[in-house]
Amino acid sequence: MPEQPGRFYVTTPIYYVNDAPHAGHAYATVTADALARWHRLLGDDVFFLTGTDEHGLKVQRSADAAGRTPQQQADVHAAHFADAWRLLDVSNDDFIRTSEARHHAAVQALLQKVYDRGYIYADDYSGLYCVACEEYYTADELDENPDADGLGLCPIHHRPVESFSERNWFFRLSEFAEPLAEHYRDHPEAVQPEGKRNETLGLIRQGLRDISISRSSIDWGVPIPWDPSQVFYVWYDALINYATAIGYGTDRTRFDAWWPNVHHVIGKDILRFHCVYWPALLMAAGEAPPAHVHVHGFLLVGGEKMSKSGLTQITPAELVDEFGVDGVRHHLLHDLSFGPDGDFSEESMIARYNADLANNLGNLLSRVATVLAKKSGGIGTAPRPDSPLAAVAGEVVAQATAAWEAVTPSVALDATWRLIREANALLEATEPWKADPGAEVDAVLGDALEVLRIVAVLASPAVPDAAQEIWRRIGCDGSVADRRVPVDTIWGAYVPGRPVLTGDPLFPRIKASGP
Ligand code: ME8
Ligand code: MG
Repeated sequence: MPEQPGRFYVTTPIYYVNDAPHAGHAYATVTADALARWHRLLGDDVFFLTGTDEHGLKVQRSADAAGRTPQQQADVHAAHFADAWRLLDVSNDDFIRTSEARHHAAVQALLQKVYDRGYIYADDYSGLYCVACEEYYTADELDENPDADGLGLCPIHHRPVESFSERNWFFRLSEFAEPLAEHYRDHPEAVQPEGKRNETLGLIRQGLRDISISRSSIDWGVPIPWDPSQVFYVWYDALINYATAIGYGTDRTRFDAWWPNVHHVIGKDILRFHCVYWPALLMAAGEAPPAHVHVHGFLLVGGEKMSKSGLTQITPAELVDEFGVDGVRHHLLHDLSFGPDGDFSEESMIARYNADLANNLGNLLSRVATVLAKKSGGIGTAPRPDSPLAAVAGEVVAQATAAWEAVTPSVALDATWRLIREANALLEATEPWKADPGAEVDAVLGDALEVLRIVAVLASPAVPDAAQEIWRRIGCDGSVADRRVPVDTIWGAYVPGRPVLTGDPLFPRIKASGP
């Protein structure tokens, strides 16, 4: 696959607008945001896309229940998602809504192409449908329904499926089993982590049946150009958002500049769509499949997937109230490893916040500023070229770089925090607060300032506000987000002789809420 050096295209799932966002959506979005920020540090030209998935039966029904038109419902909740991302400092370059005219045009162009190439035909369809998933199931894929004689339960939502029957347009997915298998054989990096790649291969090996891609029973969707009595099935419309936003159907040069070297960040619930249906659809349209799909697990609350429909939802705003923006972002990126499911609990969030942010990072900054004020007139001192921390910093930068590249933010932040811990350990070993002012004290404080400078750069994708505040207090100019890795993380670049500011704790300790 041709890599396009210097460009980084990253996407989140586009979220359904049947309700407001919860922490699970924030997890995917903040992860994509941190990757975008990291790649900006690398000097890449970054395009970071998020947005909302507005068509389909689920949104239609939630609109009916709320006494709104689907468009009104979409407007209300799309604004909730946009607000949540602004609140969380998400740096998306675009926000796509599938009800926009640009998206209708791209969907129609792409699917018309697939139709013209002979991969779409009409047939009768009946099947078992979960409206919450917007997905058909076969009987053997369902969970048993304990209190009903009829249909089984959706394996994800544990709700009864519905029996649908209509004349639909079908996509010849069955023709793509072999091309997909070959694609994943040639590009083992295309789906990560590896377990998710194996799951994808398993789905393909089971055999692929042609799939209905239209609906005649609803009209909230993108009309089919060659049969306006039907709209496209919401998933076949939604996936194309990734192509719409980079100019598919309107700006071929722009599309070719970004595609196919995309990084799709998705949850494991939508693996089949992104790793089977989407690449097959692209192949049918004569386009290359997406180069990278990064699949994460679920945030669990009491063992259950946090969801909009359950009682398990926790909103981003509630978390920000308690932990601050950077506290929430840090938790999502550092406490939960990318791939497996993770338990979401307030106690562990508080413990992690206090340990990593209040104690390790916050203390390092306040200690250095306080001791400098007392011993060195509040003026930053020079790091030692041969400091014991110089070698640690070199290792940490290499490890963090490799880990961001591998889309394992928690590993990147583990490495970053090792540097913070080692700097605190050096201070504890040398106790500059007890020593007489002089070269020894200046040297140790200079080392710690250099660590803070490097950490501000390395941690900025995770905790952008705190990183900028550290940057400012230690006397560095401009915006930390404008620094570059690796040049600005090389040991020894801290410029001494500038005022170092004391201030309020960067991360005030949080008390565990009593029972
Ligand atoms: O599936 N833990 O939208 P959606 C972690 N519109 N992540 C979670 C989560 C949880 N408990 N709950 C949700 C759709 N997510 C489609 C996508 S893309 C072309 C169309 C995250 O609103 C996770 O990333 O149900 C999951 O894949 C996504 O939200 C699904 O959001
Ligand atoms: Mg869902």
